[in-house]
Amino acid sequence: MTSTNSTRTSYDTAQQRSDKIWDRIATDPSGLRMLTGDRPTGALHIGHYFGSLRNRVLLQDAGVETWLIVADYQVITDREVIGDIQGSVRELLTDYLAAGIDPERSTIFTHSAVPALNQLLLPFLSLVTQPELERNPTVKAELQAAGKSAMGGLMLTYPVHQAADILFCHGNLVPVGKDQLPHIEQTRVIARRFNERYAGGEAYFPEPDALLSEAPTILGLDGEHKMSKSLGNTVMLKMDEAETLKKIKKAKTDADRQITFDPENRPEVANLLTIASQATGRAPAEIAEEIGDRGAGTLKIFTAEALNAHLAPLRARRAELEQDPGYLMQVLRAGNERANAEADATLQRVREFMGMVY
Ligand code: TRP
Repeated sequence: MTSTNSTRTSYDTAQQRSDKIWDRIATDPSGLRMLTGDRPTGALHIGHYFGSLRNRVLLQDAGVETWLIVADYQVITDREVIGDIQGSVRELLTDYLAAGIDPERSTIFTHSAVPALNQLLLPFLSLVTQPELERNPTVKAELQAAGKSAMGGLMLTYPVHQAADILFCHGNLVPVGKDQLPHIEQTRVIARRFNERYAGGEAYFPEPDALLSEAPTILGLDGEHKMSKSLGNTVMLKMDEAETLKKIKKAKTDADRQITFDPENRPEVANLLTIASQATGRAPAEIAEEIGDRGAGTLKIFTAEALNAHLAPLRARRAELEQDPGYLMQVLRAGNERANAEADATLQRVREFMGMVY
């Protein structure tokens, strides 16, 4: 089997498992523990929101136990400059809460504040081989995107760190994009090997499932493949209505006045329709038909207004949260405390399995 084929097969299996879990969430979410998160690089844009954050809130509200990791150590996998990490963490937290993550029900925490989680990295590293680490396609792509030739040690091993992020709290459900599938597969392998090699065959760590959503990828407003803050082609959640309108008005489109939903041939127009669709809950083709031959100008105004209306409650809440940095820190400290309790218990059990209790 070629590597493309095996990648495809494991992708299909992951998709099938993911479909089953969506059924379970709809009928009985008890026993599901979601662990997911982000590297803190600043405030979030609508690509993050429609692509993942909104889905997490939905899962939380459906009764899935929710753990969110702010992966601060992951920031230094591919850059030398840490930057304003405090500020980035604060912005991320503000967006989470504004979007509807409820700190009473959900736990938000950072890597660096949970020592026992990080220590799991050591036994976990003993369970993987160098070639396994080196062939992770996402790590390779990220190395390339960072423009680096030499792989840093933390970059090479961060999928194992991510396994610790997920397994320390026995997370069994990881909502992620397709690019994260190699990491989830690596996590499953580590859980399996740990159970076999150190836990005497007991299913101590679960083999977590990726949960793939149907959320579309939002392209950059300049037609680039991805929305990315560094390219300046985004609408940030924290922008106000006028700024949002201005950004959308500047979006790249084409000259055809007849608006149609044709992602293949008219990706920029289709992207605006996708954003409008996400914000209104209506089908993109239906919106296209309504706009008809009134051109991209009309489409842009429609999209900006739909987006502003959809984001208004989130933005109002965001503005309130920004006034209260003390509250945000309190939320994070409480989350870190809960994560530490969980990680300490797991590490203790791991030490027992390994006969390392002194
Ligand atoms: N690697 C993820 C990303 O770059 C962030 C992340 C860190 C994560 N730890 C995680 C995602 C655990 C899911 C589960 O987006």
